[in-house]
Amino acid sequence: MKPIDPPKTFRVKSFGCQMNVYDGERMAELLGERGIVPAPEGEDADLVVLNTCHIREKAAEKVYSDIGRLTKGKTQKKAPMIAVAGCVAQAEGEEIMARAPAVSMVVGPQAYHRLPEMLDKAVKGERSTDTDMPAIAKFDSLPTRKRRSPTAFLTVQEGCDKFCTYCVVPYTRGAEISRPYSDLIAEAHRLVEAGAREITLLGQNVNAWSGEDDKGRAVGLAGLIHALADIDGLERIRYTTSHPNDMDDALIAAHGEIDKLMPYLHLPVQSGSDRVLKAMNRSHTAESYLQLLERFRAARPDIALSGDFIVGFPGETEAEFEETLSLVDEVRYAAAFSFKYSPRPGTPAATMDHQIAAEVMDDRLQRLQARLNRDQLAFNEASVGRTCKVLIERKGKHEGQWLGKSPWLQSVWFDGDYQLGDLVEVELAEAGPNSLRGLVREAANA
Ligand code: SAH
Ligand code: SF4
Ligand code: F3S
Repeated sequence: MKPIDPPKTFRVKSFGCQMNVYDGERMAELLGERGIVPAPEGEDADLVVLNTCHIREKAAEKVYSDIGRLTKGKTQKKAPMIAVAGCVAQAEGEEIMARAPAVSMVVGPQAYHRLPEMLDKAVKGERSTDTDMPAIAKFDSLPTRKRRSPTAFLTVQEGCDKFCTYCVVPYTRGAEISRPYSDLIAEAHRLVEAGAREITLLGQNVNAWSGEDDKGRAVGLAGLIHALADIDGLERIRYTTSHPNDMDDALIAAHGEIDKLMPYLHLPVQSGSDRVLKAMNRSHTAESYLQLLERFRAARPDIALSGDFIVGFPGETEAEFEETLSLVDEVRYAAAFSFKYSPRPGTPAATMDHQIAAEVMDDRLQRLQARLNRDQLAFNEASVGRTCKVLIERKGKHEGQWLGKSPWLQSVWFDGDYQLGDLVEVELAEAGPNSLRGLVREAANA
C-alpha cells in the first residue's frame, strides 16, 4: 500500500449489539485523543471504521458490500482509509485482508485500544491486523470517558462461556470476563458528571458479572447496582443481556428494592421446546425459564419482559415451534426480538442434520412475530392512563416535540418547553405498536 495522508476526520459505523455501540464510542474517543475529529454530517470522512457484527449471515455479508461502496465512491466522494473492527474482524480478519485490499486495519473487539499504533502504520502504507484478546488491558489503556448524553452505556462484562450451539459470540468475544468494581464505579461517576442520567450496564451475559466491592466483599451484579444507585444525579439504571442460568436471588430482589433500577428485564429464551433448548445447549428448560420470570414478577409486579427467539433451529418440528408460540402466549412479552436461524461457520449447529427450509422459517417467523406484535401493542395499550417519568433522549419531528423512554422502555413523545435529559412526569394518553403519546399535566412538573 502507498503511504496515506494522516486522517483529520473519522466516522465510526457500528452494527450489531449495544456492546458494539459502546466500543464504537470508545474508539471515537481514542481517535479524538489523536486530534482526529468526527466528520460533519453529510461530509466525507478521511477514516471510516466499520464496527461489524457476525451474529447472522446477513450482518456479516454487509461488511464486504460496505467496503465496496466506500471504495467505489458510492458512500462518499473520496475513498477513505478503512478500518474493520468488531466481530467480523475477529472471526474473519485474515479473509478480509485477503479479499479487501482497500482495508488498512483489521482490529478485534478486545484489541481496539491499539488502534492508534495501527493508524501510524497505516499512514506509512503498512496494513495490520490485531485480533488478540487481552480484555482487561484494553479497558486500562482507553482514555477517560467524554460522552455527553442523558443516556449512556457501560460495558461491565464481556465474552461468553455458554457456547450455545448456534452462536458465534464465544468465538468473537472470547471468554467471560468482569471488569473490576472500582473501575466501573469510577467510569459511572464520569458519565454522570458528563450529563448521563441513565446508565445501561452491558454484557453478553451481564448478570454473570462478579467482583469485589470497596470493602473486599464478593458481589454480583445486584451489589454493583446497589452501589451505582448511590451516585447522585444518576436517576435510572438498566442492564442487558442476561442469561437465565446466571440469575441470582439478589438481582431478583434488587428489582423490588432499588427505585432507580427500571422495571424491565430482557431475558432471551430462544425456544419454548425443551428438546430444541437442549440441542441449542441452553441448559435451561421452558419451565425453569417461566418460573424465573414469575420470581421477577413477584419482586416487581409491573416489570416489562422482553426476550429473543430463534425459529427454524435444525430439526425444529412444527409441534416444537408451536411450543414456542405457547410460551409466548403464557409470558405476554412487552417487547421481543425474533430471528430466523442462521448457520454460522464453525458452530456445532451449522453442521447438524435437518436444516430447516427457508420457506418454513419465513412462515414460522411471521407467525411468531404476529403474536409478539399483538402482545407489544397490548402492553402499550394497557399502559394508557398510567402516569410515569419520561427521560428525554431527543427532539421530536416538530418544534417543541420531545421523545424519551418510559420506565418500561417504551418510546413516548409529547410536547412542551423542555430540554434533553429532563425527566418529565407524563400521562400516557394514546398507544401505538411502537410508541405512545404522552400528555404533560403542568402541575405535576411545576
Ligand atoms: N448473549 C445474549 C445475546 C446474544 S446475540 C444471549 O445469550 O441471549 C442476540 C440474539 O441473537 C440471541 O439471543 C439469539 O436470539 C440471536 N442469535 C444468535 N445467534 C444466532 C444465529 N446463528 N441465528 C439466528 N439468531 C441468532
Ligand atoms: Fe451466544 Fe448463548 Fe453466549 Fe448468548 S449465551 S452470547 S446466545 S453463546
Ligand atoms: Fe454482533 Fe458481536 Fe454483538 S456478533 S451481536 S456485534 S457481540
